[in-house]
Amino acid sequence: MSNTATLEVNGQKHELPLVTGTENEVAIDVKALRGATGGVITIDPGYKNTGSCESGITFLDGEKGILRYRGYSIEDLAEKACFLEVAYLLIFGELPTKEQLDKFYADIKAKSVVDDDVRKIVDAFPKTAHPMGVLSSLTSALTAFNPSSVNVDSEEAMYNSVVKIMGKFPVLVAWTMRKQQGLPLDYGDSNLDYVENVLKMMFKKPNEEYVQNDIIVRALNKLLILHADHEQNCSTSTVRIVGSSHAGLFASLSAGISALWGPLHGGANQAVLEMLEAIKEDGGDTKKYMAKAKDKSDPFRLMGFGHRVYKNFDPRARIIKKAADEVLGDLGVEDPILDIAKGLEQEALTDDYFVQRKLYPNVDFYSGIIYRAMGIPVDMFTVMFALGRLPGWIAQWREMRLRKEPIGRPRQLYIGENLRPFKDIENR
Ligand code: ACO
Repeated sequence: MSNTATLEVNGQKHELPLVTGTENEVAIDVKALRGATGGVITIDPGYKNTGSCESGITFLDGEKGILRYRGYSIEDLAEKACFLEVAYLLIFGELPTKEQLDKFYADIKAKSVVDDDVRKIVDAFPKTAHPMGVLSSLTSALTAFNPSSVNVDSEEAMYNSVVKIMGKFPVLVAWTMRKQQGLPLDYGDSNLDYVENVLKMMFKKPNEEYVQNDIIVRALNKLLILHADHEQNCSTSTVRIVGSSHAGLFASLSAGISALWGPLHGGANQAVLEMLEAIKEDGGDTKKYMAKAKDKSDPFRLMGFGHRVYKNFDPRARIIKKAADEVLGDLGVEDPILDIAKGLEQEALTDDYFVQRKLYPNVDFYSGIIYRAMGIPVDMFTVMFALGRLPGWIAQWREMRLRKEPIGRPRQLYIGENLRPFKDIENR
């Protein structure tokens, strides 16, 4: 295969280098195009066809339904690893030895206390505030309490920021939920493992002994692993682009949390459950909602269906569907919402509209059902997604800094007014 692509612009031919990735994906390098053509750029709103970086973290093949972190299949990781091992793998590139994992967790625990003044910020939010807004604000506020985390010019400084946020973020997640529920804020128990501690911090009641449920711990481990990274999605691209200005890690993550909040991205897990509830309240008529989703004059979309890159199936959805069955079975939960979800899935998989557009259930179609069975409030679902995505965002931010990537600054095609004379206010 030739290692260049030829592009003809205004009768002049330009040879553009082809770049090949380790999985034989090919990209046309257009870096020099603008200079060579005297100003011609490429345009691709939504970046449907544009690679923003080279990355060695996550590989996904949307046609074949493949997802791998650092070369390991998502199926293996979800089955065999714990969340903290996967976090280490994503951030540092290799599965940790026992010693490396122990040290990583010890360093995280050593930095997990959140300044007590952050409580005052938590107190200032109304109980009705959306947890994603609260989480994004608290994550941003952490910079003020840890100013050294901004200047990360050495690997050591970077490591310190990483363990700080891995330790403090679960506390913020738990506080966000406890504030909403009027529960006292808690620091958990650093004798527990990472995921166990998250659950205890979230659910411990002041007047009851807390009893750990292993089914829930296993399920949360799996959910967090499935969400841990997904290459250059909206929130990850946001983290990388904010970080590319050399804003600190916490500020970059806060921006990523805001990006994740939207219903077309991480907010879909909340939207799915609200949609399933609405269908149940409306008598459970899935056909009616299928028709609405297909009606172009109706803005309704079947939430949890479709994905920008998975056009055959989302491998995470397969794992999570099985996990939902297991968790609900193990916990003895009978949830009519699950039957509605299964009914919708069956109809969509055989419906021409969905088949032709390659719209399949995505990871969020089933995650909300598991979160609900765990007792997590619906508007906390996207917060749980953020907790899972944290190591991915960190890994991508760290990679961007270590590769010394330039500041992210896209170009545009201007379609506004040409130069016109200024009009005095009385003449407008
Ligand atoms: N319900 C009904 N129709 C849909 C849906 C849906 N969920 N998703 C896409 N379509 C239709 C579109 O109307 C469009 O139809 P057209 O070609 O006749 O105009 C076609 O399928 C292609 O849709 P696009 O929006 O162009 O696809 P894109 O790749 O830009 O969007 C997205 C992907 C945003 C995920 C979309 O499928 C969607 O809105 N899904 C529902 C929200 C959701 O579940 N988001 C979670 C994504 S996963 C995650 O972030 C973890």
